[in-house]
Amino acid sequence: MRGEVALRPWGATPKDPEYLAAAWADADIAKFCKAPDDRSREFAGRWIEKEPVRRDKGSSVDLCIIKVGEPEVIYGEVGMVLAEPGRRWAELGFWLFPGVRGAGIATSAVGVFSDWAVAFQGINRIFARIHPDNPRSQAVVERCGYERVGELADGTVVWAFDVK
Ligand SMILES: CC(C)(COP(=O)(O)OP(=O)(O)OC[C@H]1O[C@@H](n2cnc3c(N)ncnc32)[C@H](O)[C@@H]1OP(=O)(O)O)[C@@H](O)C(=O)NCCC(=O)NCCS
Repeated sequence: MRGEVALRPWGATPKDPEYLAAAWADADIAKFCKAPDDRSREFAGRWIEKEPVRRDKGSSVDLCIIKVGEPEVIYGEVGMVLAEPGRRWAELGFWLFPGVRGAGIATSAVGVFSDWAVAFQGINRIFARIHPDNPRSQAVVERCGYERVGELADGTVVWAFDVK
């Protein structure tokens, strides 16, 4: 899959809310990412409608992971929230649907996204707080050049990708 993965905004097809609601219903995505209390298709549709507002404000951006030439099929998501605006530090988030895990898709998407954020979005640091029970996620950021910069009291590991 490497080299075939692309990113696009949410809302490109009428099926996008269905994909997002399905992601929120996945146990691992709900556990390790911030899924909302309301995980309905309707709420997913409203969340997608507001995505351009968040993006234009610069508070967050979330992009769908797709395969080149197949924009209607969503494999996962990668995004960031501007956590510390003064320092231009953003927090990374990402997930894949279970059926497409294990093929390097997240590594490709997170790698491209991180390079884009520091090169073109004026981000000085992207960091990821990763639960100790999530070694696959730790492996993704490590493969993308993130460095381990700390550990929180509950064992959460903090990884960072800095502008060079
Ligand atoms: C975290 C998550 C995205 C990782 O998915 P993943 O499939 O392990 O990651 P990748 O797509 O990078 O695939 C890596 C696997 O593909 C393999 N691979 C094959 N070709 C590869 C390539 N060209 N580059 C990198 N890895 C490749 C790797 O060896 C690895 O194999 P493994 O499954 O035997 O360890 C996924 O587990 C997930 O969505 N979890 C739930 C949500 C979550 O935890 N999000 C992160 C919150 S911080």
